[in-house]
Amino acid sequence: MADLVSPVGRDIDRVEGRLKVAGAAEYSADRRVAGMLYAAVVTSTIGKGAITGIDTAAATAVPGFVDVFHHARPLMALAAPPGPGENYAPLQDALVRFHGQIVALVVAESPEAARDAASLVSVTYRAEPPRTSMDGNMPGVPANTPNLPPAMVTVLEPRFPTIDAALAASEVVVRSTTRTPVQHHVAMEPHGALAVREGDALTVYTGAQMPIVQATRIRAKLRNEPATVRVLAPYVGGAFGSRAQPWSDVVLAAAAAWTLRRPVKLILTREQVFTVVGHRGEVRQTVRLGASRDGVLTAVAHESDAELPFVSGWPMRPADDTSAVTYRTPNLHIAQRLVMLDRPPTWAMRAPNEAAGAFALETAMDELAVATGVDPVELRLRNSATVAPATGLPWSSKHLDEAFRVGARRFGWSARRARPRPRIDGQWLVGVGTAAAVYPANRESSSVRVRLCADDTAVVSTSISDPGTGAETLLAIAGADVLGITVRRVRPELGDSLLPPGPPVAGSSVTASTVPTVAAAARNATAQLIQLAVTHARSPWHGADPAGLSFADGRLRGNGRAMTFGRLLSTVGAEDVVGQAQTVLDPVKAGQFMFHSFGAHFCEVRVNRFTGEPRVTRFTTVVDGGRIMNTQAAHSQIVGGVIFGIGQALLEHDPVEPGGRPASANLADYMVPVNADIPPIDVHWLDHPDPELGARGIGEIGTVGSAAAVGNAVFDATGIRVRELPITLDRLLLDPGEH
Ligand code: MOS
Repeated sequence: MADLVSPVGRDIDRVEGRLKVAGAAEYSADRRVAGMLYAAVVTSTIGKGAITGIDTAAATAVPGFVDVFHHARPLMALAAPPGPGENYAPLQDALVRFHGQIVALVVAESPEAARDAASLVSVTYRAEPPRTSMDGNMPGVPANTPNLPPAMVTVLEPRFPTIDAALAASEVVVRSTTRTPVQHHVAMEPHGALAVREGDALTVYTGAQMPIVQATRIRAKLRNEPATVRVLAPYVGGAFGSRAQPWSDVVLAAAAAWTLRRPVKLILTREQVFTVVGHRGEVRQTVRLGASRDGVLTAVAHESDAELPFVSGWPMRPADDTSAVTYRTPNLHIAQRLVMLDRPPTWAMRAPNEAAGAFALETAMDELAVATGVDPVELRLRNSATVAPATGLPWSSKHLDEAFRVGARRFGWSARRARPRPRIDGQWLVGVGTAAAVYPANRESSSVRVRLCADDTAVVSTSISDPGTGAETLLAIAGADVLGITVRRVRPELGDSLLPPGPPVAGSSVTASTVPTVAAAARNATAQLIQLAVTHARSPWHGADPAGLSFADGRLRGNGRAMTFGRLLSTVGAEDVVGQAQTVLDPVKAGQFMFHSFGAHFCEVRVNRFTGEPRVTRFTTVVDGGRIMNTQAAHSQIVGGVIFGIGQALLEHDPVEPGGRPASANLADYMVPVNADIPPIDVHWLDHPDPELGARGIGEIGTVGSAAAVGNAVFDATGIRVRELPITLDRLLLDPGEH
């Protein structure tokens, strides 16, 4: 056993993989309990106004119909406490705040009856014109947010009174205004919940990213009427931010179960998910770069106006973790603003600020490369930052330049030809593009329990969920590594709000936060094991000095003998020992360093000379993410993140019609990449464990900058700069003379 190889940094299969592919993993919607009722919702068909009447006669006639609720027949009083999510509670008033808002809830004995009856509820409205367009509403209000630095930041050399003066003094200036559209998370599992009341306790099965946060929010929305709310999320079919807090579907399922005293299952239809659940908001950004003739930045200005619905949502700040931290510049101006609109709620979606921000900055950098004639990779190396321009702090670890060099080599970047001599291959124009990726490396407070059992297995428990990221396997790997046992002998326990509070399952923070906590909890458990060994009468070490005992490779050793923990526990007749730990990033370190992960993207695009069709044909991403815990899961994360970027660049948008109806709020009209859209993606890791964090999160960084790499490659192929995503083929049609 002493030569057991650590599972860290290897390809480890998902511990729950077999269950999932066999269809045996029970997601919230799969769960059935005795006496269950089914609920379905009715959503508004106007963009703003008020309900003037609801006719439910036809619905009540449906066989299996149980009850119907709406503002004039409320289920129960619900609250809209401050905190994450919407600023109103569903079915409490006649107001329609956006198109697709829940206006009625039907409960029935079967899902079919519930859906049928809901379709027969007839609602009349007094409609008002909604404010749905960014145009005419900009600039917005500063995106100042509690606990975050100011949304407006200006750093200037003493000789310049304003950023405009610094730009005016620059030899070269580029100005790039980009628009990134609404995007939807489109998690595979539709949103919903099964809620069960027992006495004054409520249990909610829902795909929560953070079961404790959801439990707290659900209880608050129910005006703390349940004595306890427990949220269970053993399996989650994708989240990407959309399950960070409960939306009205979850609140109504909970309220219905509470009021009716019967279990209630409410699963939204795919179309309803598009408006009941928050989306990635639309953003307009202007980046101005000032530089010397050889491309060294002298000034960076980054302004954003992002959609923020009146019902509240994600206050997007796209420059915080892009322009404020990516390139060296003596003069920096950031202005992040929000535009209030009558639209469905916005919410964090994978790289919630950075995906839009990096598209703006990395597109502008490509425009600077064109303006100065400096190679785009060389331009980024020339502007490499060793301290963050907005704070002056160094990074705990940063190897972005190496990522660019290694990536350029792997991709074959040197074969690139600078325009105006594009590569032509038959009917295709071929271009290449690059972009940097920077994403915060967050380490948050986390608690973990490690139980060593008499059968020589260990249980690692924390309240996080695994929305498909590999978190469950991570717990097994971290436990196996620190205890020196095989991954199979560690049983992860997660997805339950009653477990020790884990870190936010958000901001790519789970790995960096949890790995050290698993280690600390395991050390706490083994210390107790040693204590048991020296104090228990039946232990072979009874009466020994604890300092002479040590734990490694799953065994306790000392005084010339060794025993597995399970053997010792069964020898003394104990079922287990339980260790617990809570860890947080040292606040001194937190004030000394910037913490980020880094990456470099390289993309080849082919654009059809006659139809304008863009195809991504090659992609290489090199990631500087600290120590990689599970290379298989990490590879999937980066591939998934890059696919998000390709979808953002070429396919995804959901324009709002003047009346407020989202035009593509369904999976027939909302395009996401499919296999045929995705080339082989070459992912490579730099091996630089972070001196402060060890492993850093990598769940979101693949999404940062990948859309810009695509857009830059499209420009390289065609000479057409598309600053408004998605880059659809109609924008790439060339004049006949240009073929
Ligand atoms: Mo994620 S968008 O940080 O929940």
